[in-house]
Order: sequence, then C-alpha cells, then structure tokens
Amino acid sequence: MSLSMEQLNSRCLSCRACPLGDTRTKLVFGAGNEKAKVMLIGEGPGEQEDLQGVPFVGRAGKLLDDMLKMIDLDRSRVYIANIVKCRPPKNRDPKPEEQDACWPWLREQIDIVDPKIIICLGRISATALISEDFRITRQHGQWFDIGSRRYMAIYHPSALLRDVNKRPETFADLREIRSEIRRLCPEVYE
Ligand code: URA
Repeated sequence: MSLSMEQLNSRCLSCRACPLGDTRTKLVFGAGNEKAKVMLIGEGPGEQEDLQGVPFVGRAGKLLDDMLKMIDLDRSRVYIANIVKCRPPKNRDPKPEEQDACWPWLREQIDIVDPKIIICLGRISATALISEDFRITRQHGQWFDIGSRRYMAIYHPSALLRDVNKRPETFADLREIRSEIRRLCPEVYE
C-alpha cells in the first residue's frame, strides 16, 4: 500500500541514509499543494530552511515567491521540494552520493503529487532529474518529456540574486511555463 505524504514525511525524519542527517537542524521535507499539477524542485536547504524546516524561505525563497506571482501562481498551487532534504554544511553542493541517498524520498513525493509539469530550479536539480550532462546556460527554458511528465529547468533563484543579467531570460522561461500550464492543466488557473 502506498504511503500518504504525511506518513512519508514521518519516516523521512529518521532517515540516516547519508551523513547530512547528522548535521542538519530540521528536515526540509517539502511544502505546498499535494495535489498540485506543477512541482518545483530545488537543490537543498540553506540556512533559513534548515532552521525553519520549510523550503525556500530565505532570500532566494522570497525571489521564488515573486517569480511565482509573475505567472499568477503562489505556493498553494504548487508543491515545492528539493533534491536533498537536509542542509549540506556551509551550503556546499550536495554530493552525488547524498543526492542518490535522498532520491527514494523525492521519487515517492513525485509519485504522490503526480504533477504534469516539473520545474527544476538550477543545475543540480536539472542534472539529477533531466540529464546528467544538462547545461543550464544552454538548456534552460527547454521542455523535456520524461515518462508522463514535462520537465523544464530554469536558473536557480540564488543565481538570479547573484547575476541580475540572467533575469530577462528567466522571465521568458516563466512566461513559457505559464502558457504550458494553461495548455496542459488549465484548472491550475481556475
Ligand atoms: N535553495 C534551494 O535549492 N532550496 C531551498 O529550499 C532553499 C534554497
């Protein structure tokens, strides 16, 4: 029998499949609408997320909220998770073995939500979910059909905080995402 999101979350609390579980403050399991048609997947918790146990609540998270607003969305219409659920020390990239150890949790979450569209936030998420050799500078904004879902990667909000020159391209990607949502799952906007 498959688990509910709440049951999965409770099990995940005791996960020690990689060492990140020992150094984190809080598990950042995921948040949002469990029946969302659109799922956003980031890299891993930062300092604020680790303290609060909620994804994207720091500076990058505020920008993510603005990005959602730009395409008439908010957190109640999407589900947000990360490739790894525990903060990597000093915000380093999660190691491949940490990503692999965390994958079964994310896979279950994707199965439960069953979104039509998955938006990868940044390179780490895109290489984990779309293709190992994904090049974010060249391939952001493109759709990839994998199984029954459509995937697109966009620049990570932290990258947009560091480099405002990337913002216009991201606005174009966001507009494309809005059109595709309207086409594939118009109920999101009803
Ligand atoms: N960056 C991420 O990739 N995920 C978060 O939850 C916060 C910052």
